[in-house]
Amino acid sequence: MTNQSSSTRTIPEVSIVPRHIAIIMDGNGRWAKQRFMPRVMGHQRGVESLREVVRACRDMGVGYLTVFAFSSENWRRPADEVSFLMGLFIKVLEREAAKMHRNNIRLKIIGDRSQFDEKLRIAMEEAERLTSGNSGLTLTIAANYGGRWDVMHAVHSLLQDHPEWGQSFTEDQLQPYLSMSDAPEPDLFIRTGGEQRISNFMLWQLAYTELYFTDTLWPAFNKIELEKAIASYQNRERRFGRTSEQVQQISAQVQTDKGTTRA
Ligand code: IPE
Ligand code: IPE
Ligand code: MG
Repeated sequence: MTNQSSSTRTIPEVSIVPRHIAIIMDGNGRWAKQRFMPRVMGHQRGVESLREVVRACRDMGVGYLTVFAFSSENWRRPADEVSFLMGLFIKVLEREAAKMHRNNIRLKIIGDRSQFDEKLRIAMEEAERLTSGNSGLTLTIAANYGGRWDVMHAVHSLLQDHPEWGQSFTEDQLQPYLSMSDAPEPDLFIRTGGEQRISNFMLWQLAYTELYFTDTLWPAFNKIELEKAIASYQNRERRFGRTSEQVQQISAQVQTDKGTTRA
């Protein structure tokens, strides 16, 4: 169930370290091509970047990291690249699940699994089950995921459970049916690889997320690059529809209250 507030219904608290970071890991193919290697070598190298970013997030106290690994549109790619990616997912899940568990990481997978073959579905379920009780970083991998799919799937599930809501339902009633209902909305979105688009990732949840784009290709992304993104986030003024003056007044008030408490 959900205990997370919605950025459009209430004003969320802003934390210095993002509670939730969402990443589109893009640029693997180009990274490999620059090195005269087959595209898939970029995917392979991209796993190392993910490992480094997971570790850095855990060390910094980021609560949730959500990464886009395969979009609902990526089936349009050449068959051999798609099948390499499927094989890589299985290998990574089988190889990393125990390590994640030792590191207290909770793994979740979002997206439509019905199109994956059984071996991959089993590897996903087992990794999720093994790590489900962990209390450290929640790593969510979006696979065969699309933001529109997520919203449509939520609406269909809601109507199945509550046909009587067919006439009208509220945002709060829909929220628990969305993929990321148990996580706060992302504070920071990062897209590597130079493109400045969302590519159907977390359309609903990114409503008030700070967006950060970098030309760095995903296999070259590392802890230092992540720190740059977070530093950029820390320089933003998150207004959630209010004026800058209002936001500054509130933060001045918070500072005064802190002073009073201490005295
Ligand atoms: C992102 O890298 C990984 C997936 C989409 C699976 P790309 O494979 O899109 O790399 P570029 O954008 O072609 O360089
Ligand atoms: C987005 O990257 C999806 C993933 C990183 C998994 P794409 O490379 O598929 O996005 P487009 O096609 O450039 O928008
Ligand atoms: Mg790409």
